[in-house]
Amino acid sequence: MSKEVKITLPTFVKWAGGKTQLIEQFKPLFPKQINRYFEPFVGSGAVFFYVKQTYKPKYSLICDTNKELITTYQIIQKDIKDLVEKLKYHEKEYHKNPKDYYYKIRDEEPEDDLEVAARFIFLNRTCWNGLYRVNSKGKFNVPMGDYKQRAIVREDVLKEVSKLLQGTKIECWDFEKVGKVAKKWDFIYFDPPYYPLPGKNSFTTYQKNAFLDDEQERLRDFFEYLTKKGCKCMLSNSDSPFILDLYKDFKIKKVFARRIINCDATKRGAITEVVVRNY
Ligand SMILES: C[S@@+](CC[C@H](N)C(=O)[O-])C[C@H]1O[C@@H](n2cnc3c(N)ncnc32)[C@H](O)[C@@H]1O
Repeated sequence: MSKEVKITLPTFVKWAGGKTQLIEQFKPLFPKQINRYFEPFVGSGAVFFYVKQTYKPKYSLICDTNKELITTYQIIQKDIKDLVEKLKYHEKEYHKNPKDYYYKIRDEEPEDDLEVAARFIFLNRTCWNGLYRVNSKGKFNVPMGDYKQRAIVREDVLKEVSKLLQGTKIECWDFEKVGKVAKKWDFIYFDPPYYPLPGKNSFTTYQKNAFLDDEQERLRDFFEYLTKKGCKCMLSNSDSPFILDLYKDFKIKKVFARRIINCDATKRGAITEVVVRNY
């Protein structure tokens, strides 16, 4: 009798565009084997956690341009003990006076990487809808969410994340840097900020720099470059005319997703997204 491996997706941050809900639909789309895995827009890492457990790649690299997110991954990979202590402190103080404490921490400039990671997780657990948004000066500016009783410390989740990160390279890189390391047969999954749907107010500005036409074209050119190199590539994006045209030379499959971040609660229905593949 074959032994079934239990897969957990310990997403430790809520992130716009998180892929947990899409994993079932992705399963038949992944390649049969993954020896070396790259995920250049890692966000909350749902796909990485799935691939790491299912395919056990002998090499893996994740990256993102969000410096605080990457620092947090690196701290969790090294050791969670001190991080858990810091989070316990945040939790205790937050529950005494949620509003004051939230805005105090939001305005602080953390001094070292451990503080950065603890503040990042704390704000993600307590801000409005797990949103990450910064102002023109690069300062986090999301208002507080309505989670006054929420647990800040989830030690089991962090332990699991730390275990899965062992042996993985974690870099604060622009996606194109992956081209220096990726070789023939390597598998790369791209989940960029989505191109806005016509007439919809989509959420594309994760950081100061929006990811619009020029960036989407730069990514498509990179997808073509890796294709010529012999890499296997899979990419998610919105089901928009612009994206369908950009990737018209590749295989395109539609999947169904629930919209997560939308100010208007009545607009959270199922929508289609596309998965582009070169294999
Ligand atoms: C749609 S999110 C990724 C969602 C993620 N796959 C998940 O499951 O949560 C897009 C990510 O791309 C990152 N990003 C934006 N521009 C980038 C760039 N030029 N290179 C690498 N990452 C970038 C953002 O910081 C954000 O985390």
